[in-house]
Amino acid sequence: MKLEKLNLSGFRNHGSTVFTCSPTVNLFVGRNGQGKTNILEAIAYLSIGKSFYSAPDNNLVRRGDEGFVIYGSFLSDSGVRYSVGIRFTENNKIKEVRINNKEQERISTLIGKFPVVILYPDQHTITNGGPGERRRFMDLVLSQAHPGYFETLTEYRRILRQRNTILTESRGRGSRARGLLEPWDERFLDCAIEITLYRYSFISEIETYLQDNYGKIVDDPEKPSLKYDAATPFDVNISEEQQKEKAYKAFYATFDNEIRYGTTVFGPHRDEVILFINDLEVRKFASQGQQKSFLVALKISESQYLLEKRKEQPLILLDDLFGELDRERSRKVLELTTGMGQTFVTSADESIGDTHYTSLNGHIQFVVSEGSIAHV
Ligand SMILES: Nc1ncnc2c1ncn2[C@@H]1O[C@H](COP(=O)(O)OP(=O)(O)OP(=O)(O)O)[C@@H](O)[C@H]1O
Ligand SMILES: [Mg+2]
Repeated sequence: MKLEKLNLSGFRNHGSTVFTCSPTVNLFVGRNGQGKTNILEAIAYLSIGKSFYSAPDNNLVRRGDEGFVIYGSFLSDSGVRYSVGIRFTENNKIKEVRINNKEQERISTLIGKFPVVILYPDQHTITNGGPGERRRFMDLVLSQAHPGYFETLTEYRRILRQRNTILTESRGRGSRARGLLEPWDERFLDCAIEITLYRYSFISEIETYLQDNYGKIVDDPEKPSLKYDAATPFDVNISEEQQKEKAYKAFYATFDNEIRYGTTVFGPHRDEVILFINDLEVRKFASQGQQKSFLVALKISESQYLLEKRKEQPLILLDDLFGELDRERSRKVLELTTGMGQTFVTSADESIGDTHYTSLNGHIQFVVSEGSIAHV
């Protein structure tokens, strides 16, 4: 997938910004606080229907404006053109999504059609933060890769909220809660099992990519690996039916605890992905440099995984890459990513184009200043 043209109005500090993209590398340079990251946020918004920083839509509206519009023109790898428009109006909170001028009933129809991989500074929480950060990472990749995953995850979260409300309200009154929860049990478990299976295969497939990519970034013979730690460990030696039976047993065994704590304690919302380098847990033992290399290798793997599943090269957004990584590592990352598809890179260092991109053909350097593209 390639983004051909982007048009922003009233988005963050961009009053009206329009530009035509390079199909290879797009470099946004400019001083701090000028609106470079905001451009990446807008591009990602076209792909995932929300801010990748999880900022509420209201915050994205340019102060003093009534709403924002993001418009992008995409060209798929097979040569099909799509126009995507998103309009958000602040006072009635209405978000309108149009693909080829056709209004979409649900924002979810957008997710995965225009796949995107984002690497931004805060993401070191994937390697050193709590389990929730790694679940969020997995959920975003899997939602883009498999439309069915996003649907099931949405349903699972809805049932989970309902279960938790019932559990909070009937704390200590087990039999009352059991009666109210029962109608949800089967669907809750089916969703839980489906999500868990998707995540298991994701982890095993992405691990192969990860080991290959990590080896290209780090010279030492270190080996990264991943482990999915689930409420009901998946056993390849048993049938799907037996797997389901095992999950049901484990689920019902938590009932006393559910009543005690007033919340759902079984399920993929509690699962964990553990990252390792040479069998040592990354979060606890890896150096900052190792963590960065791990993260970058994981992101490149994400792009390969999305390409494999969607048969579409994702856009690659690299926010402040050079600020985050040392020269040698950022050079390697650029080498790897520019061979993979269309990239959008930001940097506060205006000389970056000369030092890193001289050997590349077709890159465009945009200078961003006070919420507009000053010159190319
Ligand atoms: N809703 C909004 N309305 C107006 N301005 C906003 C809004 N949200 C953010 N901004 C402004 O956008 C600017 C930050 O933009 P951005 O994060 O894209 O900067 P940047 O060029 O990436 O800077 P850095 O190099 O420091 O990362 C700030 O000046 C901020 O005040
Ligand atoms: Mg920035």
